[in-house]
This record gives sequence, C-alpha cells and structure tokens, in this order.
Amino acid sequence: MAAADSWTEILHFGLELLGFVLKVLSIVVTATANCLLPKKKKDLAGEVVLITGSAQGIGSQLALQIARLGAKVVLWDINEEKLKEVAEEIQQEGFTAFWFVCDVTSEDDVNAKARQVEEKAGEVTLLINNAGIMQNLPMLELSSAIIKKTFETIRAFLPNMEKNNQGHIVGISSCAGLVGHVNQIDYSASKHGVVGMMEALSEELRLKGSSIKLTTICPLTVNTGLNQNPITRCSWMMPIVGVEDAARQIVSAIRREDFIVTLPKRIHFTLCLARLLPHQVLSEFLDFTDYCRVKNSDLKRILPVMERK
Ligand SMILES: NC(=O)c1ccc[n+]([C@@H]2O[C@H](COP(=O)([O-])OP(=O)(O)OC[C@H]3O[C@@H](n4cnc5c(N)ncnc54)[C@H](O)[C@@H]3O)[C@@H](O)[C@H]2O)c1
Repeated sequence: MAAADSWTEILHFGLELLGFVLKVLSIVVTATANCLLPKKKKDLAGEVVLITGSAQGIGSQLALQIARLGAKVVLWDINEEKLKEVAEEIQQEGFTAFWFVCDVTSEDDVNAKARQVEEKAGEVTLLINNAGIMQNLPMLELSSAIIKKTFETIRAFLPNMEKNNQGHIVGISSCAGLVGHVNQIDYSASKHGVVGMMEALSEELRLKGSSIKLTTICPLTVNTGLNQNPITRCSWMMPIVGVEDAARQIVSAIRREDFIVTLPKRIHFTLCLARLLPHQVLSEFLDFTDYCRVKNSDLKRILPVMERK
C-alpha cells in the first residue's frame, strides 16, 4: 500500500513537471515569436494617462506622443512653468491635457492631486512613473535626504485599477536598475528598486488573478537634461538615444504590453550575460565600452572625497 502511494506521488510529480516544462516551452516560443513578429498594439485612444515628471525630457515627449494617439494626458511635475508649456503645446495641437504641480515624493501631495485628477480627467487607466532625479555624486557626497520615495503614485492609483480589474502601470527604471553605475549609488539603488518592485507587484497581481498590466522600461542613455554629458565609446553597442526616439520606443512597449524592455533592446542580452559571468567581466566590459566612466574633469572633484575613505 505504502509502495503504491509513493508510486502515485512520483507519477503525480512527473506529470506536474511535464506540465511545467511544456508551459515554459510555450512561453519561450510565444516570447520569441513576439520579438520577431510584429505584435498587435493596443489602442490608447480614450485612456486617461498620467505621466509623472512630464515637464521636460522623456516625460514631455511621452505626453506629446500619447496625446496624439487620442488619450487624455495628465501631466505631473514640480516645474510649473515648463509643465504649463507642455500642456499648452498639446492643447494647441487639438489634444487633451491637464496639468498639476505635484511632488511625487510627498505622499500628501500625491493623494491630494490624485483626487483632483479624478474629478477633472476621470479615473487614471495608464500610470507612467517617469519622474526621476540623478545626483551624479560619489557615495560620500550623497545626501540621504535626496534619496526619495518613488512608489507613492502606485499606491494612489492601484486601488481604482484593482476595483475595475484593468489598467496599466509603467515604471521608468534604467540600465542602472540592472547594473550598478559609478557615481550613481542612490540612483542605481532606486532604479534596482523599481525593477524589483514591478516584478514583485506583477507576482502579487498575478496571484490575485488581476488583469492589470505592468511594463518596466530600462533606458541606457537618453539625451535629456537629466543625463548631462553622456559618454559612450561604442555607440553601435551602447548608443545614446534621442529623446523622441526613446519616447517612441516606450510608447511602443506600452502598446505591446511588454513586461520589461531596455533601450536599446539589444543591451538586455549583454547585461543578462554579464550577470552570469564572473563580476570582473562586467567591470572589464564597462571599461572597454567606457560606459559611465568618470571623466577627467569630474575626477578632480571626486578624488579628494575618495581619498578621505
Ligand atoms: N536620460 C537618461 O539617460 C535616462 C537613462 C535611464 C533612465 N532614465 C529615467 O527616465 C526618467 C526621465 O528622465 P529624463 O532624462 O527625461 O529626466 P529629466 O531630468 O529631463 O526630467 C525629469 C522630470 O522629472 C521632474 N521631477 C523631478 N523630481 C520630481 C518630483 N519629486 N516630483 C515630480 N516631478 C519631478 C523634473 O522636474 C523633470 O521635469 C527618469 O526616471 C530617469 O531616471 C533616464
């Protein structure tokens, strides 16, 4: 009897394992087909799209491009003057834009503005967490007060999305969220946090049977005000992407409902491979490509701090 039980258990386990392997194979085949073949893109017309940090850079380009697709865009930023300019540009083109001065690191401000957004524009169906700051300082020069909370907006809009069992949350992370960058310790930590949080949230939602979609974007280098004097030695491998092009690729990833996308896409494989190899390989790769290396002029400022260690 006991032997029969253990054989049944083994058979059960074998069947479950077979089911798991078949599922994995079908996911890999579908994902490969999605990469190679054009995937149907969802229509954003009529969506209420909130973009944080949309007064300039990637955020303002996303707002323009998404508004042109017929969505109502809601712009949040701390820079009132530029925010107004972006909203006016969208409205002059005949599209719908609302703007609110909102500091996304303040829970009170986020909650108050979230209520105003609902009254004016309706329930947010697509949230793009784009606002970000980069201090570009070595560890000892960082102010911990500037290491901000980044997740308040999700907590403000997720309940409605869960209630309606639909919606889409986009986290703008960075390749610094996949590989730590020199002089960007707080930034790398917060961007790794975005990747981890989005992955954990997707699991939480999956287990609840939720239909809410999540997309994480990891740009390498985009030519905006945030990333000043970007350096790249191997532009064919580590290109500096223009802001319009970056926004176009992000909109496409959102419409395809991709889960995680690097900009450019091809760098994802290299970064994953680097993770599998000994850590020194990654350092050699960063040295070889000159990516995120400290420029000589910056060294003068940084070295005294490092020497104090
Ligand atoms: N530019 C790049 O090379 C690059 C690379 C990887 C990832 N990213 C990420 O892309 C996103 C956008 O970057 P960007 O280059 O367009 O930056 P940017 O500096 O050009 O624009 C960022 C916007 O966020 C706003 N902002 C900052 N703090 C805010 C706050 N507390 N509340 C509300 N708004 C706030 C700023 O006022 C600004 O308008 C960021 O999350 C950034 O980390 C950028």
